[in-house]
Amino acid sequence: MKTVENTAVASIGLLTDDICDMTLHCPEIASHAKAGQFVELYPDNGVNLLARPISICAIDTGNGNIRLVFRIVGKGTELFSRLNTGDRIRVLGPCGNGFSLSEGRAVLVGGGIGVPPLIETCRQLRGDKTVVLGFRDKSNAILCDEFEALGAKVHVASDDGSIGFKGNVVELMKSENITGDMIYSCGPRIMLRFLSDYAIERGIPCQVSMEERMACGIGACVGCVVRIKDRDGWTHKKVCKDGPVFDSREVIW
Ligand SMILES: Cc1cc2nc3c(=O)[nH]c(=O)nc-3n(C[C@H](O)[C@H](O)[C@H](O)COP(=O)(O)OP(=O)(O)OC[C@H]3O[C@@H](n4cnc5c(N)ncnc54)[C@H](O)[C@@H]3O)c2cc1C
Ligand code: FES
Repeated sequence: MKTVENTAVASIGLLTDDICDMTLHCPEIASHAKAGQFVELYPDNGVNLLARPISICAIDTGNGNIRLVFRIVGKGTELFSRLNTGDRIRVLGPCGNGFSLSEGRAVLVGGGIGVPPLIETCRQLRGDKTVVLGFRDKSNAILCDEFEALGAKVHVASDDGSIGFKGNVVELMKSENITGDMIYSCGPRIMLRFLSDYAIERGIPCQVSMEERMACGIGACVGCVVRIKDRDGWTHKKVCKDGPVFDSREVIW
């Protein structure tokens, strides 16, 4: 059930120069949230900025909190990053479908700022977990230790080789022959496309969380459509309403 809550900032800090780690107290949203869902944050600066979608990184139902990790890229995220503990912010959520968690060996694949939603996914998955994370370079590498603390075997790749394997996550997966029973992924579209090919070649089902640009965020415009295969060929689906998670085999890349 989606609600708007006037939440309080429970804690806020920086993970890197431009990546903010914020926890919001929103018991109603936390109690309904699923791994892979997102929230819409309303910038409150007196101008009519659209809400900004941010994935739920972690859910703490005991304390009624959700954690968000976001990169400061523009007006909205800049405003959020300047909030202080105790400040209030309006939040709509939980939004979208989230991942469908299944039993078996899980492979979680994240790229850049697509990594945060995999934390809650990793926490909820039982059984063998392999995590593959890709970053531009060492200075952008976030949350690696947290996946290890959740009992996952963690592989890291970076474009420049300053941390882990030199190359992208799919090249790393090929070189380590990483396999499993289900892939859960979030990251740039190009990464998801190559990952989808890898999953198809090896017969592994793969869920991709697409972080397309959004406008209304509630299914009322067509600002976030992707092409999804159906019986008649293909159809448009809205990432904000029908996603953000899709079966990679259904996406027309
Ligand atoms: C379902 C979903 C979940 C997301 N989860 C996260 C998350 O957990 N952490 C996080 O850091 N970001 C996440 N994003 C991206 C985030 O929503 C945008 O970075 C944010 O809305 C930018 O707002 P802004 O006002 O700061 O920037 P703007 O001033 O609106 O834009 C600044 C720059 O960022 C670009 N931009 C805006 N939106 C996106 C986007 N979706 N993808 C790529 N570039 C974009 C703009 O084109 C522009 O170049 C998510 C997006 C979606 C759709
Ligand atoms: S952003 Fe308007 S329909 Fe998805």
